[in-house]
Amino acid sequence: MRKPIVAGNWKMNGSGSFAAKMCEQINLFAENLDVEVVLSPPSVYLSQVQQAAKNYSAAAQNVHFAASGAFTGEISVAMLQDLGCQYVLVGHSERREIFAENQQWVADKVAAVVDATMVPILCIGETLAQRQQGEAHAVVKQQLLSAISSLQLSADQLVVAYEPIWAIGTGETATPEQAQEIHKYIRGVLAEQLSAEMANKTRILYGGSVNAETAAELFSQPDIDGGLVGGASLKIEDFKIICSAAANI
Ligand code: PGA
Repeated sequence: MRKPIVAGNWKMNGSGSFAAKMCEQINLFAENLDVEVVLSPPSVYLSQVQQAAKNYSAAAQNVHFAASGAFTGEISVAMLQDLGCQYVLVGHSERREIFAENQQWVADKVAAVVDATMVPILCIGETLAQRQQGEAHAVVKQQLLSAISSLQLSADQLVVAYEPIWAIGTGETATPEQAQEIHKYIRGVLAEQLSAEMANKTRILYGGSVNAETAAELFSQPDIDGGLVGGASLKIEDFKIICSAAANI
């Protein structure tokens, strides 16, 4: 059995008072929920969110792979460990596209996070043009393998988030069938690369315009183990509905 995860990626949104309210409400809401709820605020609020955590975990939105040094604006894995942070988003498409993160950096980040005994939520996904050209499988396989192939991983050391870029922040969600098809494929790649057992235990989240209306049907698919939620994670009531949908998997 894979315990579902719903992770809220606030991106560059929120405030101290929003974080306080969200943490309080999610602590109450998630107390008896059979879902791992994860909150991923901007880094300045990470300490606040981590310290308030009772019934959820905190995730950083980014990290640098170097241990320390002259990297203005960056944060190291040791700093995240200091906070008690458990998860780190790695390779989000906004980081790849807007901040030009390449696959080597993504691989180095995954390795650094795993080495520090935190868990990367590794984001992979194709563009619309790649999907239209029939390249979705090749793209996600390449992104996945380039990030993990040098590592010895167990299933609790990795979470994968399939996020088709054409569905992120666009209001256009992949259909449950489209998402399931890729999730099944990703699980197959994990089985080939690692082992069938490891693939079976690894949580694969769907991300891309998940909302209170679409979550239940997406999460009902056999290979979808929850969601990485952007816009809808900023609306507390909608986020709760999405978390509840994952509890019914
Ligand atoms: P969205 O973002 O839910 O707003 O599409 C998802 C993500 O980027 O993780």
